[in-house]
Amino acid sequence: MGENSGRNRSVESATGAPKRRWRVREAHKDDVDALHLLETRGHSSPWPREAFEEELVDEHTKIWVIESGARLAAMMVFWRTPAQVEVLDIVVDPDFQRQGMATVLLEMLIAVAPTGGIRRIALEVRVSNDRAQKLYRKLGFVRAGRRPDYYEDNGEDAFVMVRTITDEEINLPYGG
Ligand SMILES: CC(C)(COP(=O)(O)OP(=O)(O)OC[C@H]1O[C@@H](n2cnc3c(N)ncnc32)[C@H](O)[C@@H]1OP(=O)(O)O)[C@@H](O)C(=O)NCCC(=O)NCCS
Repeated sequence: MGENSGRNRSVESATGAPKRRWRVREAHKDDVDALHLLETRGHSSPWPREAFEEELVDEHTKIWVIESGARLAAMMVFWRTPAQVEVLDIVVDPDFQRQGMATVLLEMLIAVAPTGGIRRIALEVRVSNDRAQKLYRKLGFVRAGRRPDYYEDNGEDAFVMVRTITDEEINLPYGG
């Protein structure tokens, strides 16, 4: 996905406030501070800044972001293995949560994942993270396992959740 392949989305607030525009694009090196800020605002145990510096130059990793005006409102980090796409991180700034941004990022991934024959998207989620699990279930992810003591900060277990790309989705016009 290139610099100019961002997609705009308009949202009308329930109060009838002016429409806001979102733009989805791929992250680049200049985003490292904004990515780290977003990570620290969204996660209780955030990745360090260096992790973003490394991911931004890793040829296997992609970071998609959503901009709202001048602000970086959401991001998703993922990478492709021969067998599957793995979502490593997804976070929406608290000011922008519950507006469908995570849904947009994941739906885009589900749409493009079949390119190259990938039929499986996988991720780990804290067993205590109910809202994220709800989001994933809503998008068709199911639990596929549990990793004990997965998180270093508190020794919490992770659920592995998997979304299989169906034949019908492959046959959609944007499918692979
Ligand atoms: C989890 C997270 C990414 C969701 O982002 P979001 O853009 O607010 O999610 P969406 O608006 O697309 O919500 C889609 C669905 O997810 C579920 N959901 C999202 N936030 C929720 C909340 N606070 N409580 C309950 N369900 C929630 C709901 O089913 C929601 O659908 P609905 O609004 O129609 O009820 C966001 O809360 C976040 O950044 N959390 C902190 C970081 C994190 O936990 N990341 C996941 C790591 S695995």
